[in-house]
Amino acid sequence: MFGPGVLLRWAQEGAILVATKPISSPVKNAEIGELLEALAQHAQRPVEEALALPPAVYRSAPLLAHETRQIFEREWTCIGRLAEIPAPGDYLTFSVAGQPVVAIRQADQSVKVFANVCLHRCAKLLEGTGKARRIVCPYHAWTYTTDGRLVGAPQMDSSPGFSIEGQALAELRTTFWEGFIYVTLSEEAPPLEPRIEGLREVVGRYRLTDYEPVILENEIWDTNWKCLVENFMDAYHVFKVHRKTFDPTNQSVQRTTMHEGGDQWAYHTVDAPADDSRALAHPDNTWLEGDWRRTVTLAAVFPTHTMQIQPDMLWYLSIQPHGTDQVAVRWAVSIPREILADGDREALVKQWGELLRAVNEEDKGIIRRVREGVNFGSATQGRLAHLERNLWEFGQYYSRLMTA
Ligand code: FES
Ligand SMILES: [Fe+2]
Repeated sequence: MFGPGVLLRWAQEGAILVATKPISSPVKNAEIGELLEALAQHAQRPVEEALALPPAVYRSAPLLAHETRQIFEREWTCIGRLAEIPAPGDYLTFSVAGQPVVAIRQADQSVKVFANVCLHRCAKLLEGTGKARRIVCPYHAWTYTTDGRLVGAPQMDSSPGFSIEGQALAELRTTFWEGFIYVTLSEEAPPLEPRIEGLREVVGRYRLTDYEPVILENEIWDTNWKCLVENFMDAYHVFKVHRKTFDPTNQSVQRTTMHEGGDQWAYHTVDAPADDSRALAHPDNTWLEGDWRRTVTLAAVFPTHTMQIQPDMLWYLSIQPHGTDQVAVRWAVSIPREILADGDREALVKQWGELLRAVNEEDKGIIRRVREGVNFGSATQGRLAHLERNLWEFGQYYSRLMTA
């Protein structure tokens, strides 16, 4: 393989006859420059004049690299829930800005998050979720304790000067909020909790730490990551896309209330369906009061954590880009303990699993079509509806970070 510069020089020297030009960063930079200029303007747009983001931000590969630097390497990412790893040695893995991380429950019940990367030649250590007494690298069996210390390295006695003493996996900055585990790759990221305190006042009512995990899935969907975040916060599409699942009585618009969010979060609420078929607090739930006993909260902690919180269920998504046209999705469901204790657990899990898989299929299809649509060169920025207020908040956040 020769780089474009070599090809260009050869072309200049007449060594080859085909004219070539560098696949150069100037083209990319011009593209990014224009987009960032558009985003800087976008960040100034008031909610009364809210527009969708410029279509090119969903398809531009150079911009994805910029997103990685400006957003994913700097911000807090939700990687799962504490209740998903309840016992010492339980672990869950995730990828943040393309970098593998692992959260492990410690012997003292605390949770630590490490770079999921061997100190020898960088093999990824653990995959998926599971339980480990020791972490043994699948390549040459270097071995770590669950608190990250290197305690074994076969045959390395013959490598002069090598010692396992004092070697350990890199530990990442971690924080816990309402039972969720967040990490950041940045030393400079400001603490998360104060930035989303306004959202805690809403979410805290439900006592999510008492919800028990029952479903956890990892999938790749065909769309840009922003299409999925926006879709989850979009209260407008429900009456059309989910008319067979979430909204069979065609009442979603009347049941929805949009709320003002913050710099890093947004939410809206939806009343339980009038037929009392779901989203009701159990009689043993004495902490939700008044209308909150039948209120669903749909919230996002930007950039990529979305959640639907009901008195009878929690459904959350942790989202990461997978190129510009695919997205890695962790989606998981938890059910309050008092509801599991009172009902047929298996039937409840089956019922929620079937409903949310059907909803996912409906969303998957539509956001794939959006991703295909933004490929059109002169696709425009459409006007947002009032039920898309949370997309405006996301757009403000996104534009601000991208142009910082
Ligand atoms: S890469 Fe892990 S032991 Fe070699
Ligand atoms: Fe949807």
